Amino acid sequence: MAITSDEPRADKPARRISELPGPRGLPLLGNALQIERERLHRQVEQWAHEYGEMYRFRIASREFVVISNPATVAGVLRDRPDGFQRGAKLNAAARSLGFNGLFTVNGDEWRRHRPMVLRGLDPTHIKAFHPTLVRVTERFANRWRRAAEAAQPIDLQADLMRYTVDVTAGLAFGTDINTIESDEEVIQTHLDKLLPALAKRVLSPLPRWLTRRDPAVAEGLAAVHEAVSGFIAAARRRLADEPGLREQPRNLIEAMVAERDRPGSDLSDEDLSGNMLTMLLAGEDTTANTLAWMIWLLHRHPEAAQRAAEEVHRVLGAEAHPTHEQLAQLDFVEACAHETMRLKPVAPLLIQEAVRDTVVDGVEVPAGTPVMCLMRPGAVSAANFADPQAFRPERWLAGDGPGRAAGSAKRVAMPFGAGPRTCPGRYLALSEIKMVAAMLLRHFDIVDVAGPGGMEVQERLAFTMSPVGLKMRLRARS
Ligand code: HEM
Repeated sequence: MAITSDEPRADKPARRISELPGPRGLPLLGNALQIERERLHRQVEQWAHEYGEMYRFRIASREFVVISNPATVAGVLRDRPDGFQRGAKLNAAARSLGFNGLFTVNGDEWRRHRPMVLRGLDPTHIKAFHPTLVRVTERFANRWRRAAEAAQPIDLQADLMRYTVDVTAGLAFGTDINTIESDEEVIQTHLDKLLPALAKRVLSPLPRWLTRRDPAVAEGLAAVHEAVSGFIAAARRRLADEPGLREQPRNLIEAMVAERDRPGSDLSDEDLSGNMLTMLLAGEDTTANTLAWMIWLLHRHPEAAQRAAEEVHRVLGAEAHPTHEQLAQLDFVEACAHETMRLKPVAPLLIQEAVRDTVVDGVEVPAGTPVMCLMRPGAVSAANFADPQAFRPERWLAGDGPGRAAGSAKRVAMPFGAGPRTCPGRYLALSEIKMVAAMLLRHFDIVDVAGPGGMEVQERLAFTMSPVGLKMRLRARS
């Protein structure tokens, strides 16, 4: 199947990758020395600006094809699992770190895992989970109230990650790990080391046996695996005590343990712990970083913050936190989340690998070629959005301006990916984002949100893209 942003042209012969433009590199290393891992996304976006919507670059012997036209990107992402898949290097790196799960598996393995994970994250489960979501949000509000009373700056991302880990563990494992109220070394101190380690292994030009073993990563891995084994053991005990749960599991871990223990099951223990870790990792940074960016953007745009706060007060009435039904009515708050993800997508690039020889936008792409999809250039292009660099959440409300309605915007900005592998956690993520935003806007005034030394906030890519070092100061409302 050929993937194109326009109608395919039979009269135009396909070009080869070698004919694509791209930055000049060194003979053996290619462009490796021009890339700083934590700023890779900025570099490839800069090259897209210079070389256009399709170009190439090389890290040692791996030649990447880079695409940024939203229609072409969507075409590649939709052509999975048979035409494209996640890269073999990602799969091998995740396996070596012991968290090979839905995000990293391919082919039939992915086909088997996906429905199980989808069931655990579907809207019905999330609705049933709402009382727990409220409880965790209330705890989180108390943590921020204490910081506000003590005039203590809040380490925004670290705090948000406590929230997202507690929520994910609650929903997926049925376990209340309560890192929000713990001041001891908590699980995400260890989790924090794993995504950067994964990114390093995926992008390293060196073979695995030549890379140095990092003791902090090894220690983090051991701690996280121990915690996950504990969650699995607890789920097994629940299934033994209540055999009915095997047929009607209450959460993802119970569903997977029941499947693993079924005679003839082809799930392994490794699949089980790999998927549990995947949930923690995929649900933690992405949602916390999106919230951190959103809070920072709202602080910089008081008129949007004011409109969001008014919506929260109007919709919530006497409630301290939104009910499940009220969450669905927070349209402007949700628009703020979409606008944040357009400007600050926490997954700014998705690397796919061609499964078979194909043609992408008139270029022959042989099987095995890594294709890097850039998610931001189309979303901040004047061709797709008026005043594209501005934070204007109202553009996500249907009917805002001719040709700029929410539907077409959603086809261009794809923060959750697209096609069969689109993010299964998006419904949960948006619920968390709206809960935290509503809690913040209802119970606090933001005094300040700033990066180190009041400087312009930097973006750092460590698998997901986060703001560097945001500190927030709050004042509690009476
Ligand atoms: C704002 C928050 C989030 C963002 C921006 C985000 C973004 C993404 C993106 C871009 C992908 C790749 C999609 C593709 O390849 O087309 C993805 C996949 C995935 N996400 Fe999320 N995600 C978020 C939250 C979550 C949460 C809360 C969970 C679960 C608790 C989760 C679980 C997953 C999983 C398991 C996959 C792999 C799906 C597959 O390959 O079939 N994500 N996410």
